[in-house]
Amino acid sequence: MYLLRCIECGENFENELIYTCPKCGGLLEVVFDVSNADFRLDGNNVTLWKYRSLLPVRIEPVTLFEGGTPLYPVDVDVDARVFVKHEGLNPSGSFKDRGMTVGVTKALELGMKSVACASTGNTSASMAMYSARAGLRAYVLLPSGKVALGKLAQAMMHGARVIAIRGNFDVALKLVREISERKGLYLLNSVNPFRFEGQKTIAFEIVDQLGHAPDAVFVPVGNAGNISAIYKGFLELREAGYIDEIPKMIGVQAEGANPIYRAFVEGKDSIEPVENPETIATAIRIGAPVNARKALRAVYSSKGKVLQVSDEEIVSAQKMLAKQGIGVEPASASSLAGLLKEDSDFDTVVCIATGNLLKDPEEVMRVSGTPVEVDANISEIERLI
Ligand code: F0G
Repeated sequence: MYLLRCIECGENFENELIYTCPKCGGLLEVVFDVSNADFRLDGNNVTLWKYRSLLPVRIEPVTLFEGGTPLYPVDVDVDARVFVKHEGLNPSGSFKDRGMTVGVTKALELGMKSVACASTGNTSASMAMYSARAGLRAYVLLPSGKVALGKLAQAMMHGARVIAIRGNFDVALKLVREISERKGLYLLNSVNPFRFEGQKTIAFEIVDQLGHAPDAVFVPVGNAGNISAIYKGFLELREAGYIDEIPKMIGVQAEGANPIYRAFVEGKDSIEPVENPETIATAIRIGAPVNARKALRAVYSSKGKVLQVSDEEIVSAQKMLAKQGIGVEPASASSLAGLLKEDSDFDTVVCIATGNLLKDPEEVMRVSGTPVEVDANISEIERLI
């Protein structure tokens, strides 16, 4: 029904326990025979496992009822119909749950006992949650002091072994790849091709909910897995005849962590790492995204682009969403921040909001202030109302 293919040299593999091509070192992707797709994109029962016929698992999935996230129309100052897909309403509060329901199921299917990841926070929170559900041991490497509190709290409470390293995410990822190899841990970072399969369902749901493909999809970009996965989802929908045109994939990076933006501006298909990435949006504080080549391909082939936004623009978009009842963490607001800077003509646009407001309460308190404290009597309160 599917096989693994190297995105660089095109070699096919049946062994599912490899992450990179044994021949050329390229990343792998799952290739489906999409003629097996058996779902209707009619807006009914939208949930991730509705698309099981295009998901690479053979056993009953480990699920916490992820997916089926709302697609909210929003009112912003651009000349297009704008929707926000609120991935922060997944079980652990981010889009990572889509990848984890598939990735953790795959770990069980392959008989693995332990899973591991490096993370800026959300991947670890999600992996901890799903591996707890599945009864797997979870090991997490985080950049010390740079993970938002809500995410750390989740990883700890769901029982992962959390190791904070004195180094950034890029270093943590290098280390976890090595330790997973040495200790036989199942690696659940986005070098794992099965995680993408879960994440591509964002594309399926957008078309399911809208009834058609939008003109453009704006995606916050860190390690660049999600934008690549969503693009893959649209490709499969086109191949299976559900849509005619692929939306423009528009990646948005933070100015202080912008290697893919730089590559795009120079028309390149690979990146120069940013040595010391820095941004308020800690989720996308990544200087050497492993999926950069995949993401750039998605952008170029869909005639999209990569934008960069400042921390101020991110916070302003975050507040704009909050005022419409949509609570997101800083990285998630970068997609809307990107749209607000973009001057192309679109009819329908979807911005992906990747994670929940509660993930980073400290940032929220910094940018929104503290409550007024008064004595407990009615006249004091009356004065304030
Ligand atoms: N938005 C949020 C809230 C994220 O947590 C991430 C990635 C992204 C956007 C970017 O997605 O990496 O696929 O380009 N977070 C990872 C983590 C790196 O460890 O949680 P990407």
